[in-house]
Amino acid sequence: MAKELFAGQRKNKYKILISKEAISRKNIAPLLKEHKKTLIISDDGVPQKIVKKVTAACKPSTKVFEIILQQGEKAKSIQNFQKILNFLAESNFDRTDLIIAVGGGVVGDISGYVASSYLRGIPFIQIPTTLLAQVDSSVGGKTAINISAGKNLVGAFYNPKGVIIDTSVLKTLSNREFKAGLAEVIKYALIKNKSLFSLLKRHPKEILLMHHKIIEEIIFASIHTKAQIVTQDEKENGIRAILNFGHTFGHAIEAHGKYKKILHGEAVAKGMKIASKISYLESLISEKDHKKVIALLEMFEFDLSLNQYNYEELKPYILRDKKIKAGRLNLVLLNQLSNATVTSAFDTKNLKKAMQD
Ligand SMILES: NC(=O)c1ccc[n+]([C@@H]2O[C@H](COP(=O)([O-])OP(=O)(O)OC[C@H]3O[C@@H](n4cnc5c(N)ncnc54)[C@H](O)[C@@H]3O)[C@@H](O)[C@H]2O)c1
Ligand SMILES: [Zn+2]
Repeated sequence: MAKELFAGQRKNKYKILISKEAISRKNIAPLLKEHKKTLIISDDGVPQKIVKKVTAACKPSTKVFEIILQQGEKAKSIQNFQKILNFLAESNFDRTDLIIAVGGGVVGDISGYVASSYLRGIPFIQIPTTLLAQVDSSVGGKTAINISAGKNLVGAFYNPKGVIIDTSVLKTLSNREFKAGLAEVIKYALIKNKSLFSLLKRHPKEILLMHHKIIEEIIFASIHTKAQIVTQDEKENGIRAILNFGHTFGHAIEAHGKYKKILHGEAVAKGMKIASKISYLESLISEKDHKKVIALLEMFEFDLSLNQYNYEELKPYILRDKKIKAGRLNLVLLNQLSNATVTSAFDTKNLKKAMQD
């Protein structure tokens, strides 16, 4: 059964459609009205079949152009940004035309940023094809590219016109990428969504085996939580910060490994373990609840070992985190299960303590 959700405020409100065969003319054609030209942006790791299916669903409503980037985080570059802008200009795209991102978070982020800046903004649609993109990056309007000084340092808040989540595209995703996406699903359960927490606890096997019905349910629950939070706080002035649960440490672990050793979701899983432990050390949650968090992460077979990292090595990366405001490090901690809070009132000694297994 197709499921629908909405995110964004007033005229920036957009529909998120979730179903097994969501990539179809029936779902896409209504979004193409008034757009004579459409640029599909994807990368060469996304199965061609998926891009072809999107192209077929767009025709004959619009004239379709395609740019396929080289897969990998490097694709979110200033060079590609400029290349796509030039392509749009040379193909005479105007503000009534459209961009469709077909891919993971990398494709979604650069496509969204191009859409936000070409002619000061043209419409775009997200068709996310990784679990991470389906439960996280395609919703919320954050777009970004990387510069040599750091990841995601340039970008804009720019909502898509629609998000189409076709769960059948996940079939070809590697198990490792799939599990990395699951870390973000667990995040929503821990910060806000109690029923998602129990859903995850009840069905780990079916989820790991990618049984369709349960996957659709956890994607819906994740997006439901994300959409609620980002609609309330479009530009990250408040509540939206809880989406960074586990991320201060996760980002530090990723950066420490020069973004080569570990996937984002794998690092976030370790980060959530640390954040939960600090919550316990700060007496915000009981030891029993902390153990429930660890048990959930272990149910999904995350490697939670921390012995290869030492606090002193990670510290500079932790302190560099964007979430530092007015010189104080803000942490997302748990007040209770499925209830996160942002605080700068914690004993810094507990940061180090939490990293000891
Ligand atoms: N904008 C946001 O709110 C937000 C949130 C989280 C992450 N991000 C960004 O997202 C990016 C990570 O996204 P990601 O994890 O999706 O990585 P990704 O986009 O690099 O995709 C991972 C790999 O899977 C391949 N792939 C995509 N779909 C596939 C499919 N259906 N079958 C087989 N292979 C497929 C890709 O080609 C790529 O090689 C990072 O750049 C991160 O900064 C953005
Ligand atoms: Zn994340």
